[in-house]
Amino acid sequence: MTILIDQPVIGSHLENKKVDEINELVLDGGFVVPNGENAVSELVSNNEFVAPEINSFGHSFRDYDAENERQKTVEEFYRLNHINQTYDFVKKMREEYGKLNRVEMSIWECCELLNEVVDDSDPDLDEPQIEHLLQTAEAIRKDYPDEDWLHLTALIHDLGKVLLLPVFGELPQWAVVGDTHPLGCAFDESIVHHKYFKENPDTYNPEFNSKNGIYSEGCGLDNVMISWGHDDYMYLVAKENGTTLPQAGLFIVRYHSFYPLHRCGAYKQFMNKEDKENLKWLHIFNKYDLYSKSKVRVDVEKVKPYYLSLIEKYFPAKLRW
Ligand SMILES: [Fe+2]
Ligand SMILES: [Fe+2]
Repeated sequence: MTILIDQPVIGSHLENKKVDEINELVLDGGFVVPNGENAVSELVSNNEFVAPEINSFGHSFRDYDAENERQKTVEEFYRLNHINQTYDFVKKMREEYGKLNRVEMSIWECCELLNEVVDDSDPDLDEPQIEHLLQTAEAIRKDYPDEDWLHLTALIHDLGKVLLLPVFGELPQWAVVGDTHPLGCAFDESIVHHKYFKENPDTYNPEFNSKNGIYSEGCGLDNVMISWGHDDYMYLVAKENGTTLPQAGLFIVRYHSFYPLHRCGAYKQFMNKEDKENLKWLHIFNKYDLYSKSKVRVDVEKVKPYYLSLIEKYFPAKLRW
């Protein structure tokens, strides 16, 4: 079954903002076309993953052609994202969703819930989300057979997209998906459609608009407020429910959409030693997240027992969401 997402606008600060065009948009990343030079070349395993050059539609990955209709929709998505993701907004969302008082379910139940959402706008993906989760996890498993925590990390990394569903408050797209970036310091030029920050009130807050803003160098990403979305939410769920996944797994979940950092190297002055170690794993993961979106189907029933065993190893039977 396909659930088409129809979302209300939330928050008084959203009045007058036009969101109709993007009501069915689900993004997982921004515009930067993958570039082998600055990405993962030194971080691959012995059995190097061979990335296909085209996606399931026969186009380059993350290729948002300027003449493409979708490009306009994506630009509108980022306009709303950049205007409405403020420091105060993120703080409120963290508090609200940190209560974890909405649903009780297992990790696998959440996978199945997400399976009912088909991503209509991701240029690389037209399969149910569970296919993307399992394609990513299985591709990593093939190349890193001993890192079972990384297989499970791949399985859960996008589960936070349930925020789009009514039972989770049906958040608008700009508050769930797309690239993420820090709040509380200047918006780096590498953030896609940077021009729209002109309409974000934080731009004019002298506390926030210097390079380091309210942070200090080496303070650790854990102390930096990142725009709200499926990454931070799933991190919160995993952590608060007492997962035993290693820190690198939690780091991947939390920062996999933070393209300004992991693709462009922006904001790296805030990283501490542990962040730098974890970033190596994020680089590895990201390659699979992007390129495993292909027509290779995964037999869900066949691989399910393996993933259930990992869930049992690293998570409680039921989690609070
Ligand atoms: Fe994601
Ligand atoms: Fe993903």
